[in-house]
Amino acid sequence: MKFILFLTITLISQGFSALASITDAEIKSLSEKLYNLDSNRATASELVIEPQTLITSSETGSRSDLSSRPLFKQVSSTLLSKPTYKALLNLLDNYKRVTGEVEDVPSQEVQEQDAFLQQTMNTDLGKELYNFLHSKGVYSSQSEFIQDLKMMWFGLYSRSDGKLDSSGFEHIFVGEIKGGKVSGFHNWLQFYLTEKQGLLNYYSHSFDGPWTTYPDVLAMQFSWDGYYKEVGSAFIGCSPEFDLAIYSLCYITRPGKKCNVSLGGQTQGIQTYTWDKSSYGDGKKYIASAYPASP
Ligand SMILES: *[C@@H]1O[C@H](CO)[C@@H](O)[C@H](O)[C@H]1NC(C)=O
Repeated sequence: MKFILFLTITLISQGFSALASITDAEIKSLSEKLYNLDSNRATASELVIEPQTLITSSETGSRSDLSSRPLFKQVSSTLLSKPTYKALLNLLDNYKRVTGEVEDVPSQEVQEQDAFLQQTMNTDLGKELYNFLHSKGVYSSQSEFIQDLKMMWFGLYSRSDGKLDSSGFEHIFVGEIKGGKVSGFHNWLQFYLTEKQGLLNYYSHSFDGPWTTYPDVLAMQFSWDGYYKEVGSAFIGCSPEFDLAIYSLCYITRPGKKCNVSLGGQTQGIQTYTWDKSSYGDGKKYIASAYPASP
C-alpha cells in the first residue's frame, strides 16, 4: 500500500516535472519549427482574402456590417483536397451547434476523428510535435499521444444541462451557439465553408497580424446565421495540422494559460482553457478553448 502510494506520487510528480521542464524558449523554438514545417499552408495564389474594414477593439460591440463583400474571395480546390484538409472537412459537419443538444457519435464519425489525427501524424509537422513531447517524457509512444489527443479534443462533455453536447474540437474548430451568441469558432476553413454556404456574414476585423504570408492571424466580427461573434480570432491560411499542433502544444505545456509562440520571428500569444467540470483517464482535462490572443 505504502509502495503503491509512493509509486503513484512519483509517477504524478514525474509527469508534472516533465511539463515544468519545458521552458518558454523551447516552446518558441518548437513553434518556429512547426511554422517552417507547415508545407500544407496556403500560398498567395491558393488563398485570396479581403479583410476590408479594420475597427478598434473598443468598437467590436457595435454589431455593424462594415464589409460589403465576403472575407474569403478565393480558395483553391487543390488546397482543399490535400489529405489533412479533406480529413478536417469530413469532421466539420458532425456537430449540433446549439449547446444542450446531445452529440451522437456514430462509428463513421469516430473513424473520421481517427483519420484526422492519423493524417496529422503523417506530416512532418505532426511528427516534430510528437518527437518533442516524447523527448520531454510527456508521451512514451506515438499511439499514446494520438489516444490522448483524441480524448482531449474529441471527448464529449456537457456545457448545458448535463447533456454531452460539446468537445474542444466542436468548440474551437466548428463553433457553438450558447446563450444566443456564437461561442468558440476559431478555424478559418469552417469560416470559409459557412460563408460560402451563405450562413455567415463577415462584418469587420479588429486585428490583423504582422505577417505578409500565410498563416496570418485575424480577429473577426461576424454573424453566423443571425448569431453575433464580437471577437473571433483565428489563424488564416494555415494547414489543419498546424492549428491542431499549435493549440495542442500550448494546451499540453501551458494548460489554461497564455502561451507565447514564435512564428516567422513574430511572437503570437495563444490562450487555452481547461474544462474543469469533468475529466478523462486519471484526472486529465478536456480542452475547453484555444485561440490566438495578444502575447
Ligand atoms: C509573452 O511575451 C510578451 C512580450 O512579447 C511578454 O510581455 C509576456 O509576459 C509573455 N507572456 C508569457 C505568458 O510568457
